[in-house]
Amino acid sequence: MGGQNAKATLDKKVKNLRKRIEHLEPKEKPLEHGKAKIDILDSSKIHSKIIIEGKKINKKFHKKTIFKDAEFSIFNANKIALIGPNGCGKSTLIKMIIDHHPTIRVAHGAKIGYFSQDMSILDDNLSIIENVMNTSIHPESFARLLLARLLFKGNSVYKKVGVLSGGEQVKASFAKIILQDINLLILDEPTNYLDIDSLEAIESTLKDYDKTLLLVSHDRRFISAIADHIMTIENYKIHIFKGGYEEFLERNNKSHGGEEIQKQIIVLETKLSEVIGKLSIESKNENLEALDKEYYNLLGEIKELKGKL
Ligand SMILES: Nc1ncnc2c1ncn2[C@@H]1O[C@H](COP(=O)(O)OP(=O)(O)OP(=O)(O)O)[C@@H](O)[C@H]1O
Ligand SMILES: [Mg+2]
Repeated sequence: MGGQNAKATLDKKVKNLRKRIEHLEPKEKPLEHGKAKIDILDSSKIHSKIIIEGKKINKKFHKKTIFKDAEFSIFNANKIALIGPNGCGKSTLIKMIIDHHPTIRVAHGAKIGYFSQDMSILDDNLSIIENVMNTSIHPESFARLLLARLLFKGNSVYKKVGVLSGGEQVKASFAKIILQDINLLILDEPTNYLDIDSLEAIESTLKDYDKTLLLVSHDRRFISAIADHIMTIENYKIHIFKGGYEEFLERNNKSHGGEEIQKQIIVLETKLSEVIGKLSIESKNENLEALDKEYYNLLGEIKELKGKL
């Protein structure tokens, strides 16, 4: 009888627990889906058509010219990938935008969220969620959704930033920026040092991002997935191609002439920078071999094209 009683009590407990779980489920569901769509808050909408406009941009470092009477316009909700070989001036342009260079006008009401790897925006002594929440305009539940999507699940959001790996710090910074009151996102190489899962998480978040984005990246897959415009720096001028990366490549492959060869070289040099980046973090031998091979192939192709100029 004692056993029967105990079973009845247990059954009752299980039933109660089930009820509570049923009750809890609707609340917990969004976390399982891990989808965090970044909605526009009406207050931070920009109404201008042009978000960033540069005219007669000139820049030199000592004797090295970076821009000579360059100009460009970025329109509202454009997703621009700025690509090009190491040292062509990508970060310089980004910094000129951030620093309000007199030749570059940023639309009234634009609130910039900026990320670069040589800048730390996180407090090592605070947890991930504290770092994110002390500048977030979204509720904590929403922040946790985004963090879960970036693979910070459950209690891991309470980890102190100081103990995180480089890749985790990049993701935490990214979450902090995207949850701030911003409407213009500027990212300078956000994907370096990220593993493939984290990269995909950031990629899918950016795909859902519906405001203006200016992104410097050497990662071809990332660029093709996100950008609807391709920005390049050639002969000290800035060019914007209206179309995604695949179209940009196609256009360059079809065309001929010196200018087009230059463009192809830029594409290959972009690939080369990506491979160099990967070589520096890759540890598996078979990948290293493949990357090494790609590196030399690309070098060969670039040399051949340069010979045609
Ligand atoms: N503060 C500086 N003083 C002197 N030269 C600089 C300075 N900043 C950049 N440069 C030079 O200007 C050129 C452009 O640099 P920048 O950092 O803009 O290149 P990048 O396109 O971002 O390259 P990467 O792909 O390597 O990030 C480089 O040759 C760089 O050495
Ligand atoms: Mg740079």
